Amino acid sequence: MLEASPLLLVAASLGIVLLAFLLILRHWGWAVLLIYWYEFILQPVKHLIMGDTKEQRILRHVQEHAKPGDPQSVLEAIDDYCSHKEWAMNVGNKKGEIMDGVIRELGPSLVLELGAYCGYSAVRIARLLPPGGRLFTMEINPNFTVITQQMLDFAGLQDKVTVLLGASQDLIPQLKKKYDVDTLDMVFLDHWKDRYLPDTHLLKECGLLRKGTVLLADNVIVPGAPEFLKYVRGSSSFECTHYSSYLEYMKVVDGLEKAVYKG
Ligand SMILES: C[S@@+](CC[C@H](N)C(=O)[O-])C[C@H]1O[C@@H](n2cnc3c(N)ncnc32)[C@H](O)[C@@H]1O
Repeated sequence: MLEASPLLLVAASLGIVLLAFLLILRHWGWAVLLIYWYEFILQPVKHLIMGDTKEQRILRHVQEHAKPGDPQSVLEAIDDYCSHKEWAMNVGNKKGEIMDGVIRELGPSLVLELGAYCGYSAVRIARLLPPGGRLFTMEINPNFTVITQQMLDFAGLQDKVTVLLGASQDLIPQLKKKYDVDTLDMVFLDHWKDRYLPDTHLLKECGLLRKGTVLLADNVIVPGAPEFLKYVRGSSSFECTHYSSYLEYMKVVDGLEKAVYKG
């Protein structure tokens, strides 16, 4: 009985992995299952073998194929790499164009981004800011803040963007005193999806929202942010619009939610 226990342990672990895969498959389909497989199994193996990370490879591709000081060429190089070589969790071109439309219509001067990753959306947002406009982008992973800063430097947007290392829940309360922010014109929510709702409450509690502040949330369908959606759509303090689109570099339906704060 005792000799069988390691075998049982392996069988139980395999069973749990299989169950997780089946649950993901049932809920989101093959495409998302492939992303999980790629991100959590293949990527770590690739990292061990190649000695660099996917994010470093994305940056290198940009440095080799885009034009310094030309944000559009940076976006095109990232989209090209992530469509043809390695999938990555940037907002991507399809949803990016929707985001561009929201920004052009609003004309924000002060924007907060939650979740920078490699700086794709930071480049996308910052290139549309008016003279004197500012973007604060918060990123919890120190390796990703280094990539984001280098991406912004390459795109020539470093003077418009402040990259903040840390968890959104720790940094948001510092915005007023430490970074001299009054209220925000726009917030792009694109960090871990279970933080969308608590950080919306936190932004409100910290007095960072004003009448007309636009919250734009990515991935509200895949992986999904159901609690956030339920709250903003049911609240009389927000006016919501859904923009249906596709998950970055995939033929999987996803969407952005715009929630305008009514005060
Ligand atoms: C989907 S990616 C962001 C993609 C990026 N906005 C773009 O479109 O180019 C999510 C990022 O959020 C970061 N993140 C997750 N939770 C966070 C938190 N609480 N505070 C700050 N960053 C967070 C992750 O490390 C990850 O890099």
